[in-house]
Amino acid sequence: MVEKNPNDDFIELVETHQEKSKQIIAICNQKGGVAKTSTCLNLGAALAAQNKRVLLIDFDVQSNLSLLFGCKNERSFYEVHESDIKPTEIIKKVSENLWLLPANSKLSLLARHYLRQKNNGYFLREHIEPLKQYFDYILIDTPPSVKFFTPNALLAADFVIVPTQCEFLSMNGVLQTESIIQALAKSHPLDYRVLVTLYDQRNMASKVIFSKLKNKYQNTLFNTAIEFDPKVQESQIINQPVTHYDANATASKQYTQLAKELLSI
Ligand SMILES: Nc1ncnc2c1ncn2[C@@H]1O[C@H](COP(=O)(O)OP(=O)(O)O)[C@@H](O)[C@H]1O
Ligand SMILES: [Mg+2]
Repeated sequence: MVEKNPNDDFIELVETHQEKSKQIIAICNQKGGVAKTSTCLNLGAALAAQNKRVLLIDFDVQSNLSLLFGCKNERSFYEVHESDIKPTEIIKKVSENLWLLPANSKLSLLARHYLRQKNNGYFLREHIEPLKQYFDYILIDTPPSVKFFTPNALLAADFVIVPTQCEFLSMNGVLQTESIIQALAKSHPLDYRVLVTLYDQRNMASKVIFSKLKNKYQNTLFNTAIEFDPKVQESQIINQPVTHYDANATASKQYTQLAKELLSI
């Protein structure tokens, strides 16, 4: 839940000792509904609970991540671009160790403006650079769109998480995301891991595709998988990460496990 005390939005400068190869993490899959936004929120909260200072960037016109924190029509990177304000001025503290840089629908105008220009992939990278000193982790939530948003997030990132459901079309989204990562690799090589989300072990198709994913992505699949858990949806109704809503929920334990796995690789 957003705390309204303005002092809470102040970001004190701390020396971060974060290993730089995984400080900025883009969460991408060209398919919608694979839990990109839910992973950004809940992994971010789980890292914050591990005493890491975490910034979540909502880089999606739909602003779902912002809405999950109860933030509507807050200033976004559009206003940063239009009014020449600093990103630090629009960042909100949303809970202990966790900050949000919100989105709003005007991000589509930002994309339209940059898509008319050459070299439009570096907008986000340039604006994130000065923020790196304040946070251990910066997680970027992206839309399925391949234009502007995903390339900007990938070019700003040093690591990618590709969430996927165990179903055919989501796997295809993983392939599309991989091909974008590969297309950028000459100038910007990126390490990535595939994350199984919304896993339902009672569903036969899910089980078959999970074993296919394990075969195909032997070294690039997270050991932790996130199961389908209604507690994730319940927690979103009251604008909380699932880890805050019910620490004993299956998804809470799995996102905590994922945070630990991320810290260990
Ligand atoms: N582990 C989970 N268990 C149950 N529902 C989930 C889980 N993760 C996400 N959801 C739900 O699935 C839907 C899609 O998730 P979302 O994070 O919005 O996906 P994306 O950002 O990829 O479009 C949402 O309704 C969300 O509440
Ligand atoms: Mg989303």
